[in-house]
Amino acid sequence: MARTWAIAGVDLHLELTGTRVRAALESALREAVRTGRLAAGTRLPSSRTLAVAEGWLTARSGSGTRVAARPAVPTPSAVPSPLALRPAHGHDLRAGSPDVSMFPRTAWTAAARRALQTAPPQALAYGHTCGLPELRTALAGYLARARGVHADPERIVVCAGFAQALGLLSRVLRSRGATTVAVEAYGHPQHAEIIAAEGLRARPVPVDAHGAVIGTPADALLLTPAHQFPLGVTLAAHRRTEAVRWAHETGGLVIEDDYDGEFRYDRQPVGALQALAPEHVVYAGTASKSLAPGLRLAWLVLPAHLLEEVTEAKRLADGHTSTLDQLTLAELVTRGDYDRQIRRCRLAYRRRRDRLTAALHREVPHVRVAGVSAGLHALLTLPRGTDEQDLVTRAARRGLALEALTTYRRPSEADTPEPYGPALVVGYATPPPHAYTAALARLCATLADRR
Ligand SMILES: Cc1ncc(COP(=O)(O)O)c(C=O)c1O
Repeated sequence: MARTWAIAGVDLHLELTGTRVRAALESALREAVRTGRLAAGTRLPSSRTLAVAEGWLTARSGSGTRVAARPAVPTPSAVPSPLALRPAHGHDLRAGSPDVSMFPRTAWTAAARRALQTAPPQALAYGHTCGLPELRTALAGYLARARGVHADPERIVVCAGFAQALGLLSRVLRSRGATTVAVEAYGHPQHAEIIAAEGLRARPVPVDAHGAVIGTPADALLLTPAHQFPLGVTLAAHRRTEAVRWAHETGGLVIEDDYDGEFRYDRQPVGALQALAPEHVVYAGTASKSLAPGLRLAWLVLPAHLLEEVTEAKRLADGHTSTLDQLTLAELVTRGDYDRQIRRCRLAYRRRRDRLTAALHREVPHVRVAGVSAGLHALLTLPRGTDEQDLVTRAARRGLALEALTTYRRPSEADTPEPYGPALVVGYATPPPHAYTAALARLCATLADRR
């Protein structure tokens, strides 16, 4: 028997089992509190309406019945909490996150308000699997203009981050009989895991000064052409041509992960590879660097032959991405606030990049800095023989989180010599502005302390 009580506009739903209502109620409440479904402080119906299970609830005259505070019960889980991934104290110069304090709260709130005021009720019903037409149209215009993408709104699928997009693509490739995705020998560790989780083999290909080496036999090739993650090189023009030729000749699919393509500083803008062969290249963009990773908003521009299957995979995965967030982003893009945000961040990150390179040059000239003409991270190459891991440990003792290049290495089965020496990947966008000076000082102190 299920019962629902409405308290101050909040429903309390409990599953009651058995015929003795008081005992069933007590047990259902205990279970709801124990599992955390009812948090400490949750307002409940009065104890007259509800049989109070002693110890689990508190009743105070005038303030109603509430769930009593109790010590937190650790939930067994092999997966670390996402919050555990970033240190609560200290400084963080690991790559991956932009400065989330630069999120355009005012513009986002105004866009959300406008979107809600003008959207018909139907906009809040189950929506289009591929994404709302408003957002797909806005994105198509933006991507064509800012990144040179051949973007037709009908070819766009809005996803919950690139992570989901890559999972959907992998699933579709697998269902078509694919077995292997070539990935750059250095990259985001999660992406190779996502590919593997869908039953495909991620086969690393070398990356040199011209970007990924093209030609490894595979069903698909995942690239970061504008700014290789994390080495920072740009895929050279001849490699772009080779990638497209490879796709034409083998029928392989190129997946272009354009995660930070908007952030370029003192080099010519590099347009999307997708424009060279829209029927062979999937373009993938994300709001994780330009706005915030917590939004979980990304977009694919697909070749016609993949559209139906990717849409079906998205439908099965989660129906569609949050309508409200899509409407808000559509407003932001249409009104120019998204461009303003990019410009503001580009300027701020460029200043940070300049401060980083100047400080390293001045304080630790033995460290070589690369990959800084674009993006939000730098590659710091250390003298031969330096123990990367030891540096990371010493930085941690100074309250600074750093990451070694080896964290991003995807070892290849071919016993190729390691082309990159000891290095650190420094995400200079991550700290909030007030913490950047201190983070830089700790970085330089750690690097200067050569033992
Ligand atoms: C190489 C690369 N691609 C894509 C992304 C964005 O992923 P998502 O959209 O899932 O946040 C990141 C974020 O760190 C990244 O490092």
